[in-house]
Amino acid sequence: MRRSDLPAGFVLGTATAAYQIEGATQEDGRGASIWDAFARVPGAIADGTTGEPADDHYHRMPEDVALIADLGFDAYRFSIAWPRIQADGTGPANPAGIDFYRRLAESLLERGVTPWATLYHWDLPQALEERGGWLERDAASRFADYAAQVTDQLGDVITDWITLNEPWCSSFLGYASGVHAPGRNTGARSAQAAHHLLLGHGLGLEAIRATQPEARVGTTLNLYSVRPASDSEADRDAARRIDGLSNRFFLDPVLRGTYPEDVLDDLGQASWFAEHAPSDDLRRISAPIDFLGINYYSRHTVAAGAESDAVDGPPSAYPGSEDVRFVRTGAPVTEMGWEIHPDGMVDVLRQANELAPGLPLYITENGAAYADQVDAAGEIADPERTAYLQTHVEACRSAVDSGLPLAGYFIWSLMDNFEWAWGYSRRFGIVHVDYETQRRTVKHSGRWVTDLLRGEGAAEAAAQLREG
Ligand code: FCB
Repeated sequence: MRRSDLPAGFVLGTATAAYQIEGATQEDGRGASIWDAFARVPGAIADGTTGEPADDHYHRMPEDVALIADLGFDAYRFSIAWPRIQADGTGPANPAGIDFYRRLAESLLERGVTPWATLYHWDLPQALEERGGWLERDAASRFADYAAQVTDQLGDVITDWITLNEPWCSSFLGYASGVHAPGRNTGARSAQAAHHLLLGHGLGLEAIRATQPEARVGTTLNLYSVRPASDSEADRDAARRIDGLSNRFFLDPVLRGTYPEDVLDDLGQASWFAEHAPSDDLRRISAPIDFLGINYYSRHTVAAGAESDAVDGPPSAYPGSEDVRFVRTGAPVTEMGWEIHPDGMVDVLRQANELAPGLPLYITENGAAYADQVDAAGEIADPERTAYLQTHVEACRSAVDSGLPLAGYFIWSLMDNFEWAWGYSRRFGIVHVDYETQRRTVKHSGRWVTDLLRGEGAAEAAAQLREG
């Protein structure tokens, strides 16, 4: 696999998110987010940690930008922490917050790396959660106001914007299963949070278009390749439900301006949506975007029948479809237990393209967690991660070859970081972080990436240069 196997102009980047890397959660006027509050709840995070200090990126930003540039990336996708801009989710933008992201974007541009900013990667200001969070329609207007201020003040240095990251996670992990912040168990009402998130996207999009007409704006969905465990009618219905809740419930409103009726029925939410999700909302949610971001990690194989250990676990993230099991196929999995299935990436790209033919698509996240070991020489050999990335970059090539409008691919993640409910116990980076010293070390997978980006031998040459 060589870079030249991909079309000219194909964007190769890497991604992170604010709460996962920044730390400095109480500095320069940053307010609390739902993740600050949630991480303090005993038992919420597997290793009992929080996003403080994470990778201390807030203080080490120049070093991290140099690393991104040295690795050879074209683009860097980061997220803006809403509570750094508006401590309580309202009012004028905090100059110190704006200044941090301005310095980040400028440093990237100086090094020839294009900044891609996500406006909402899960860190809702806690003050807004106390007013009902995403279950309240008002959250969507608050988000649009925040988006307008950010793009107004940073539009001269950032052109590529992503409104939301993975609204499925924000709504169903945040408000149904409660394994993510804000940790609520509201069952099928979580679908209302999803509508308000999507409305936030629509209103935000409108606000960004008004403040920065030349911006390129999209949104990012997490999509899964879904298939039934057998050809039985019951298993096929299970696959319809999971594809419905994970994929179609977000793709359809954004790309077609409708909610899938079968999914509203599964959720028992048809009447709430009829009343509270008028066609005007859907018109905004489906207003033209410049690209769709897709985060792809894995395939789901599903069967009818509840999980046998469901009694002890958290409530289902699929309200109304509790009677579905996720089946292990025996295919290799990453340390997250996520099945490795590169062809599934092509499936989800095709699914999106069928709804909006020709709309530019970007894989805005793809990557793998493995239990890395630092060897005696200080090296991190991670051949499984390299293989994962390589096979998925190859899937990008197949997608392009088959005519899909895939325009870029971002690796999750630049460096090991706070992996939400897993804390620091799961490492996704192509750069290793020693949390005691904050030392960054490029893993072998990172060197593979540099060789892909710049050609064979580039990683070694770059390392030698750095050592003088
Ligand atoms: C995605 C998130 C990202 C990261 C990866 C592993 O769902 O967007 O922040 O945690 O999973």
